[in-house]
Amino acid sequence: MNLIIVEDYQELSLKAAEMVASEISQNPQVVLGLATGSTPEGMYAELVKMNRHGQLDFSRVSTFNLDEYAGLDAEHEQSYHHYMYKHLFSHVNINHLQINMPTCEVSDLDHFCREYDQRIAAAGGIDLQVLGIGGNGHIGFNEPDHQLRVQTHLVDLTVETITANSRFFSSTEEVPKQAITMGLGSIMLAKKILLLAAGKNKAEAIAGSLSGLITTALPASLLQLHRDVTVIADREAACLIT
Ligand code: F6R
Repeated sequence: MNLIIVEDYQELSLKAAEMVASEISQNPQVVLGLATGSTPEGMYAELVKMNRHGQLDFSRVSTFNLDEYAGLDAEHEQSYHHYMYKHLFSHVNINHLQINMPTCEVSDLDHFCREYDQRIAAAGGIDLQVLGIGGNGHIGFNEPDHQLRVQTHLVDLTVETITANSRFFSSTEEVPKQAITMGLGSIMLAKKILLLAAGKNKAEAIAGSLSGLITTALPASLLQLHRDVTVIADREAACLIT
């Protein structure tokens, strides 16, 4: 894995945006896998700036988001759908027909999951997958477990994730208990992976994932098996790496 340690969140956001921008410049039809959460917010802000300044063209880019809560409709302000429009899609010249987001708001969820994976495959797979990491080592919403799923699926969120994400809601009770997530298959088949981590609550997960045993108890540790992973971590997130 290629590890880049940066001073702070601002540098992380800029470096991450530069890497995404470079992929788009090299291949205007690039297929991006996108994450939500606090970590990539700054990266999206930088990408929006580049697009506004005419330095970056999203018109032929396709995107596939990693995950979405179950039980929140797309308009809910904590839905990942809402997040993506708020932070990126409403501000850049992306073709909205090329935006793909998982959703539980369908009559046949199993069919939707299969179809989402087929859509990714039909697009030629993901060229660059952007990931955050949970304090418990989850990627997408692939939570620590004794086994991990390959395909897009419905997942029960762990108490750790519900507690961590309660900061976005007025109470823990309001946090959805389930989500739809891409499985490890689409993530590991991405041609490149960019994992972002900021803050000391990510330090243990980052240290374990980069150099410890590969285990489904720490889903991000599977990334050690991927050929092209870049990790951008700020000093705090990198502080336990030996
Ligand atoms: C979100 C996602 C999650 C987050 C992770 C970290 O789409 O896939 O894996 O990346 O929960 O979230 P933040 O960045 O809020 O700490």
